[in-house]
Amino acid sequence: MSYLESASEIAREAGALVADYYERRVPYELKSEFDLVTEADRASEALIIHRLREVYPDHRIVAEETGGHESSSEYCWYVDPLDGTTNFAHSFPMFAVSIGLLRAGEPILGVVYDPVRRELFYAERGSGAFLNNERIRVSGVASLNGALACTGFPSRKRSHDINIHFYYQVAMASHGVRRTGSAALDLAYVAAGRLDLFWEFGLKPWDMAAGVVLVEEAGGRVSDMRGAPHDIIESSHVLADNGALHAETLAFMDQVFRGEYRVPLPEM
Ligand code: IPD
Ligand code: CA
Ligand code: CA
Repeated sequence: MSYLESASEIAREAGALVADYYERRVPYELKSEFDLVTEADRASEALIIHRLREVYPDHRIVAEETGGHESSSEYCWYVDPLDGTTNFAHSFPMFAVSIGLLRAGEPILGVVYDPVRRELFYAERGSGAFLNNERIRVSGVASLNGALACTGFPSRKRSHDINIHFYYQVAMASHGVRRTGSAALDLAYVAAGRLDLFWEFGLKPWDMAAGVVLVEEAGGRVSDMRGAPHDIIESSHVLADNGALHAETLAFMDQVFRGEYRVPLPEM
């Protein structure tokens, strides 16, 4: 089996397990004040790690709930066993399993599986991006004022999050900004042309590893929020779009960084 075949099979299995917990409406616990975790996160992660180790015993694995599984291999799997836990815990049907593979630090493969809609998004470097066997491509929207944007707000340290400034400005300049609660699906939706751009501050490598390969293989562009090359491990902020919007969006974001707001916040 190829890396892509095994990752897809494992993501589907983990997704089915997560869907089973979803039907049973399991309780959540708190990792920190607003950071939720459930038995489904842990069971999905245990399944994925067990299955990856069976097939690739030498590879490294970095998984959200249990940390790292070290080895000297140049291959490293980044696993988010349940992306969108807050949605999951509130029966809001928007969550996914995300599995990405890096080789010598370069993302080379990504699989994102949404068990509610039974949508498997997958891509391998150089081979294009797919959704359930159909090739997907980014949208052709060429300006921000015709774009549907998306962002997210991490649950950790949320009172320090500067993103509300960006949210408001992009909302005023585009068709709107969605906030789905699953960064892995946000990136997959950019790849599929359902969203034109996505950005977020404070993401972890397992949130993005699969999604960035999907976006790039679907013809889009990924950088950090300042336009520097995106690095899964070093860059916690990301801007991913259809490519056509990249320069305009970076210039727009740069203005917000400098505090040059095009539209002032409304008076109370
Ligand atoms: C979260 C989701 C959310 C994003 C947060 C992530 P989790 O992942 O991707 O959309 O805004 O930054 O932490 O905690 O549900 O795996
Ligand atoms: Ca996540
Ligand atoms: Ca997670």
